[in-house]
Amino acid sequence: MSQSSTQNSPGASPLDPQGPMQADSPTNYSSPDDASQSVDSTVHNFQEENGRTYHGYRAGSYLYPNDSNERDRLDLQHVMLKHAFKDRNHFAPLKNPQRILDIGTGTGIWVMEMARDEFPNAQIHGTDLSPIQPTDVYDNVHFFIDDASEEDWAVEPASYDYIHTRVLLGSFGDFRDIIRKSFYYTKPGGYMESQEIFPTPFCDDGTMPDDWPFLEWSKYFDQAATMAGRPVRMAHKLKRWYEEAGFVDVQEKIIRMPINPWTKDKHSKTLGKMSEANLIDGLGAFTLGPFSRMFGWNSTEIEVYLVNVRRAVSDRHVHAYMKVYVVWGRKPKTSKKSGSSS
Ligand SMILES: C[S@@+](CC[C@H](N)C(=O)[O-])C[C@H]1O[C@@H](n2cnc3c(N)ncnc32)[C@H](O)[C@@H]1O
Repeated sequence: MSQSSTQNSPGASPLDPQGPMQADSPTNYSSPDDASQSVDSTVHNFQEENGRTYHGYRAGSYLYPNDSNERDRLDLQHVMLKHAFKDRNHFAPLKNPQRILDIGTGTGIWVMEMARDEFPNAQIHGTDLSPIQPTDVYDNVHFFIDDASEEDWAVEPASYDYIHTRVLLGSFGDFRDIIRKSFYYTKPGGYMESQEIFPTPFCDDGTMPDDWPFLEWSKYFDQAATMAGRPVRMAHKLKRWYEEAGFVDVQEKIIRMPINPWTKDKHSKTLGKMSEANLIDGLGAFTLGPFSRMFGWNSTEIEVYLVNVRRAVSDRHVHAYMKVYVVWGRKPKTSKKSGSSS
């Protein structure tokens, strides 16, 4: 380690989007190619608001906290998504990649696992607005503070064999920009992959009332994020956006993630337990910034409002789930589209 700057038969798995889900009884910081660039003084200057801290670099761009509670939640969310993906970190068919980029890496846990377990010979970069990544890292890991909405990612075009994004809903004004730039910075023959949650509950058996508090919350959440210019409902558009950007052989996988452990199947029930914990833990983080800044609610009003939302999340009588989208595509060897960084 080195110091771094920072499915489809009836009754098949309930993770199969086509099959029925069965209910159980209720019970440092520089740009990649310019390591000499000075550290921006705002990077460590976290903003405090309503008892949470937010990133200082490009302050205000990202609506969600970066404090230790949120970092712990991000690491749990990683475990949840690994479970949903049956222990996979990626779906793109990677063969001996040399350079990998994880945009909006968060705590860098995905990068660290990829570097240790899957591609110890690849150079793996992770970028973020917040310096919340480990400093004691594998030799092939490099974390950078970088705003992915910048036109220039400070690396040569066609630098990466694989660009990965995960749970970046609500991070950008238009995620098509990130896809277009990723196309530009991906080597011909390389891949991009996005793993995204669609933050709306679905229900197939009529057990979710129209006025279910978590359903209502998801509508407010969408509204606040849209008002802030950081839309959260984008996962279902990724496949089309990848194709429009020039990626080919674009694949989409949709996994149903129960809100809580209401399902019978063991794998799905465990996923539901993780999802419930992620939501109970995360609702404060997801709500405080957007609802206070966009709706003018104060923190007490938000906490009172969330009491019923959390109760709803734990209600085993409501058989609701959210969809997790995984989309990946290949940059053709030759293409009319060269992509652009702007
Ligand atoms: C929900 S977290 C997901 C973290 C990580 N991808 C994961 O799956 O664990 C979103 C991350 O995107 C980062 N982010 C938001 N806007 C960004 C931007 N413009 N440039 C780089 N990172 C950004 C945030 O700081 C946060 O760490």
